[in-house]
Amino acid sequence: MHNTEEHQKSVTFRAPTSEDGSDVWDLIRSSGPLDENSIYCNLVQCEHFADTCVIAELDGEIVGWISAFIPPDEADTLFVWQVAVGEAARGRGVAKKMLAELFARPACADVTQLKTTITADNAASWALFNSFAENMDAELEREPHYERDAHFGGKHATEYMVTIGEFAQDESAASEEEATHAN
Ligand SMILES: CC(C)(COP(=O)(O)OP(=O)(O)OC[C@H]1O[C@@H](n2cnc3c(N)ncnc32)[C@H](O)[C@@H]1OP(=O)(O)O)[C@@H](O)C(=O)NCCC(=O)NCCS
Repeated sequence: MHNTEEHQKSVTFRAPTSEDGSDVWDLIRSSGPLDENSIYCNLVQCEHFADTCVIAELDGEIVGWISAFIPPDEADTLFVWQVAVGEAARGRGVAKKMLAELFARPACADVTQLKTTITADNAASWALFNSFAENMDAELEREPHYERDAHFGGKHATEYMVTIGEFAQDESAASEEEATHAN
């Protein structure tokens, strides 16, 4: 059994490949309350959006995942689709370090804001993005975006659009430092 310090040291971060799609799907399925997508969807993310997706590994096993992309008409924005950290690896900064890893990449060099959607009841997710906004010294705005009745036909809670930014490149550099020390 690892103690917290050893556990932290051995977490590593990398871009996905298409061979990770099935393991990513397994992680998401076991990381409620996330919506499940098809394995095919996760394969496409891993292959075609590898530059803006990240995997966290511990002893060769995938313990964390972020899918994200730069919307075609918003070159200054990273839209974060899903964040998942396996239960055993939670509370150790893995999610924050995955965000830092993404913002340290060349693909995000021109990104000055982050967008994501969160349901009102997801305390862990609000905590993660509030903490990220604080670290980046940036404002966090929220407003209903995909609404329960208008968009989900009453089958899903309203997703609030969260916008964090604008943040400066030197804050990204600080995050890069954090990501480096996470390895
Ligand atoms: C949300 C989730 C990704 C957080 O992963 P994590 O690696 O445990 O998060 P971190 O350790 O990086 O914590 C980031 C911040 O959030 C806080 N936090 C994390 N989980 C929390 C919880 N359950 N309740 C309150 N705060 C929480 C941490 O204290 C930390 O705050 P700090 O920087 O001020 O100290 C993880 O709980 C998860 O996978 N949940 C299920 C899936 C999900 O809801 N994903 C988000 C929606 S896309």
